[in-house]
Amino acid sequence: MANDRATFGADLHLELRGTRLRAGLMDALREAVRSGRLEAGTRLPSSRSLAADLGIARNTVADAYAELVAEGWLTARQGSGTRVAPRTAPRPPAPPSTAPAIPAAARTRHPARPDRPLHNLKAGTPDLASFPRAEWLKAYRRALTAAPNEAFGYGDPRGRAELRTVLAEYLARARGVHARSERIVICAGFVHGLTLIGQVLRAGGVREAAVESYGLGLHADLLTRAGLATRALPHDARGTRVESLTDDPAFRAAGAVLMTAAHQFPLGGALPPDRRAAVVDWARATGGVVLEDDYDGEFRYDRQPVGALQQLDPERVVYLGTASKSLAPGLRLAWMVLPERLLDAVVAEKGAVDWVSSATDQLAFAEFLRSGAYDRHVRAMRLRYRRRRDQLVEAVAAHAPHTRVGGIAAGLHAVLALPPGTEQEVLRAAAWQGLAVQGVDQFRRPSVAPALDGLVVGYATPPDSGWQAALRALCRILPQDPGPVPAPPAP
Ligand SMILES: Cc1ncc(COP(=O)(O)O)c(C=O)c1O
Repeated sequence: MANDRATFGADLHLELRGTRLRAGLMDALREAVRSGRLEAGTRLPSSRSLAADLGIARNTVADAYAELVAEGWLTARQGSGTRVAPRTAPRPPAPPSTAPAIPAAARTRHPARPDRPLHNLKAGTPDLASFPRAEWLKAYRRALTAAPNEAFGYGDPRGRAELRTVLAEYLARARGVHARSERIVICAGFVHGLTLIGQVLRAGGVREAAVESYGLGLHADLLTRAGLATRALPHDARGTRVESLTDDPAFRAAGAVLMTAAHQFPLGGALPPDRRAAVVDWARATGGVVLEDDYDGEFRYDRQPVGALQQLDPERVVYLGTASKSLAPGLRLAWMVLPERLLDAVVAEKGAVDWVSSATDQLAFAEFLRSGAYDRHVRAMRLRYRRRRDQLVEAVAAHAPHTRVGGIAAGLHAVLALPPGTEQEVLRAAAWQGLAVQGVDQFRRPSVAPALDGLVVGYATPPDSGWQAALRALCRILPQDPGPVPAPPAP
């Protein structure tokens, strides 16, 4: 175990430092109670679940709980679990005079605004507590034992052949991708792949890339940094209006389009079949290229996942996949499947700077895939996230019937459509509740006029022990009425 570890229990926000884990945990819990972050009566997670979140032994947590009970900080009663002991709570600061118009309940629950959020429902991360440590370790051990000596050298900038071979088989089977191992390049996350392709396209004379009207600003910024101007495609109720690539002269200079076709990020729709065909037709007709960001394609809950767009024309679509949602973003493992004409340039670009992804991590991932552990993990997480999404839909229907859960049943996040004009107010209420969550407006490209109010809820983010509390905090901030009554039509 590392000597200077910093581990976070995302729901309790405990930070453990040093090697004395039990003492560190006790200090962190005392501090949380003392500062009012843990209120009197709050039920603590079970020792098993907190131990799993913090990555420490269950006995360590059980011992820390027992000592804090003995010291009077906590109480433990059969049937009601371990709770923060009753005490005189510090008086909360008075709300500022410009307090936002948020539901009264939302303002009274956690008046001492915590420095760090109590609940994290930000989109973008899987449940990190569910990382399959034991299976990964087994795969790593087997991979390392079998690795030839040359694996510890510089190797091929495309990445380890062992990984590219099993990935080709997996991507064809699970995502319908036309993939031969020679066309796959391993990269350190989607962002790395996007940067490399942006640079290659720019060097090949492309000056502009189209992007969706809502998306991660970081991705558009990476294209800009690679020298490509970005232009946002319009959006309607069916998704991105890819027809504009052909119909609107403003897109004449676009040589590439970046799309989250299987599950638009963050709005949550799937690109309809006619538009999937249209964007590939555009690429064929103009020599353009579609950059398919398949970030969470394995997670579809209501039907079989829609296959990758890439299968419509592997010579016109660059397929980009990542382990950041299915396993963990910290691995920095992702892959591109490239058209023939871009392959050499991308490999040269990658090799010119560095090889980036660790060979031993790649070998471990190859073994993880080969042994079936990846399929098992994805299946287990699919079940877990599906259950969470169902619980989110049920809770919203019960507590905020005027809020609609939008998008397809897929991925690790959902969009809650809010009454027009309420997004900022709801976000202020969320901050007040110690709830980290983002509004859709944060993902709107600057040139796109504001049109939607909503919350992007990352339901995969909290560990199991914090999920129900996060859901309750979310329900507290949702508007209880249908929003402003529309003005009567002018006579
Ligand atoms: C839309 C989208 N694409 C791709 C990624 C994955 O990025 P990376 O592989 O660089 O972690 C993310 C992660 O948050 C994402 O939200």
